[in-house]
Amino acid sequence: MAVEIIILAAGKGKRMHSDLPKVLHTIGGKPILQHLLETTRKLKPHRTHIVVGYGKDQVIESIESQFSNSTPAPEITPEINWVEQKEQRGTAHAVIQALPYIDTNATVLILNGDVPLISLQTLKKISRPGNKLNLLTSKMLDPTGLGRIIRNNKNQITGISEEKDASDQQKKITEVNTNCLSVKADYLSRWLPRISCKNAQKEYYLTDVIACAFEDNIEIVGIASNCVTETSGVNSKADLGKLERLYQARQADRIMASGVTLLDSSRFDLRGSCQFGTDCVVDINVILEGNVKIGNRVLIGPNTLIRNATIGDNCVIESNSVIDNAIIGNNCNIGPFARIRPETVLNDEVRIGNFVEIKKSSIGNKSKVNHLSYVGDSEVGKNVNIGAGVITCNYDGADKHQTIIGNDVFIGSDSQLIAPLEIGDGATVGAGSTITNNIQKNALGVSRARQTSIDNWKRPVRTGQKHTVVKKTRRNFKN
Ligand code: UD1
Ligand code: CA
Repeated sequence: MAVEIIILAAGKGKRMHSDLPKVLHTIGGKPILQHLLETTRKLKPHRTHIVVGYGKDQVIESIESQFSNSTPAPEITPEINWVEQKEQRGTAHAVIQALPYIDTNATVLILNGDVPLISLQTLKKISRPGNKLNLLTSKMLDPTGLGRIIRNNKNQITGISEEKDASDQQKKITEVNTNCLSVKADYLSRWLPRISCKNAQKEYYLTDVIACAFEDNIEIVGIASNCVTETSGVNSKADLGKLERLYQARQADRIMASGVTLLDSSRFDLRGSCQFGTDCVVDINVILEGNVKIGNRVLIGPNTLIRNATIGDNCVIESNSVIDNAIIGNNCNIGPFARIRPETVLNDEVRIGNFVEIKKSSIGNKSKVNHLSYVGDSEVGKNVNIGAGVITCNYDGADKHQTIIGNDVFIGSDSQLIAPLEIGDGATVGAGSTITNNIQKNALGVSRARQTSIDNWKRPVRTGQKHTVVKKTRRNFKN
C-alpha cells in the first residue's frame, strides 16, 4: 500500500520569539524541516504533503533551494506537495488541508515538522499500520508541555490529553505523544470532521483522532521510542540549543568511531559533512561547515573554522585560523590567525603565517607568506618568500587586478605591489618598496627614498608646557 506523508509545518513557533518560521531554524547549520525531509525521502513515500502557513513562501523557497543545491544530488528527490493552511487553527485542521490531495486507499504517515531527528528505522516501524493506528510514544523524565498518553485499566491507549487540558493526575503521566502516527487515509477522513475545538487552546487537535480510533474499535498500537533525541521537538530556543548539542554529540561519536581524535568531543561542531583520513587530531572549538575533506595526519588547532575546503596530508592548521572555500595541498602549515579566503589554492609545503590573508590566489610549492600580509587575486610561483607586511594592492576603487609573481622571487617586507603587475622568476623587491611597474626576471625592483643622515641631530626637548596643552585639547573635545 502506498505511503503518503503529511508534515505539519504551518505554525510560527510563537515560543521561539523569532520572525523566522520555526521549521527554518537550523540544527547543525541545516533547517529543521530539511533534516526531517532527508530522512523521510529514504522511505520512498508516494508523495510528501507539507502543510505551510506562517512564512510559507520563505519555507518553500528555502527548502527547494536546499534540495537543488545539495551535492551530491539527492538520490531520491522528495516529491513535495506544498499545502497552504491559511489560518493556524490546530494540528487536526492542518491535516484536513492536506487530505483532499491524498489517495483514499493510501496509508498516511503524519509527522511534526518541528521534530527533526527522527530515525529512518523508527519511521519504517511506524509507517505500516495495516488496519491499525500506529502511534510513536516516548517516556520523558520531564513531560511538561507535551500531550500525555491516556491508557485504560487494560493498558489500552484511549486518548491523548494536551498539557493545557490535562488534570493534575494526567500531568503526572510520563508517557507522551510525539505526534508521529500512521493510519489509513479513509479513517482520517472519517475522524477529522468529528474533532471539535472545545479545549483550552480552542484549537482542532490532531491528538483527538486517538479517541476517535478507540471509539471505532480500531486498534491503537503504541510504539515506544527509547531515544529522546529522535522524538524531541523544537518549541523554544532552549529546545533548539539542547537538540543542537545532542546532534553534535552524535556526529562527534561517529567521527571518533572512524578514527579521528577529538580532544574534546563536546567542543566540536560539524555543520555539513566531512571526511577525514587516518590519524587526524582536532583540538577544541573547531567548526567544520559545508563539505570538508581532510587528508591523513592533519592537525587542526583550536578555534578554527574550515568551510567547504579540501586539506591535504600532513598539514598543520594552527589555532584561530579560517579556511573558506579553498584547496590546501600536502605538508602545508597555516596560522595561527591566518585567513584563507575563497578560490585560494595552496600547493604543497606552503607556509602561511599569522595575520596573513590570502584571497582568490594560488601559491606555488614551498612558498612562504609568514607574517601580516595580504595576497589577493594573485598567482605566486614556487619557492617564493613574501616578507612581513606585504600587500598586493588589487583594487583601484573600481576594478580588481592581478598580480603574477614567478618562481624563486623574494619580496622584501612592507612592500606594496600595485596590480596589475608581473614580477619575473628570480626577481627581488627591496623592502619598503611601492612597486608599480613590472620587474624583469632576476632583477631588483626597489622604490624608496634614499636614506639621509644628519649628524649630531638634536631631538626636541620638552618645554614644560606639555600638560597645559593636553588639558586644553581635552576641554575642546568636550565642547
Ligand atoms: C504537539 C501535540 C502534542 C505532542 C507534541 C510533540 C497537538 C495538539 N499536540 O504539540 O501532543 O506531545 O506535538 O512534539 O498536536 N502546526 C500546523 N498548523 C497548526 C498548528 C500547528 O501546521 O494550526 C504545526 C506546527 O508548525 C508544528 C506542529 O504542527 O510543526 C506541532 O505544533 P505545535 O504547536 O508545536 O504543537 P505542540 O504544542 O508541540
Ligand atoms: Ca511542537
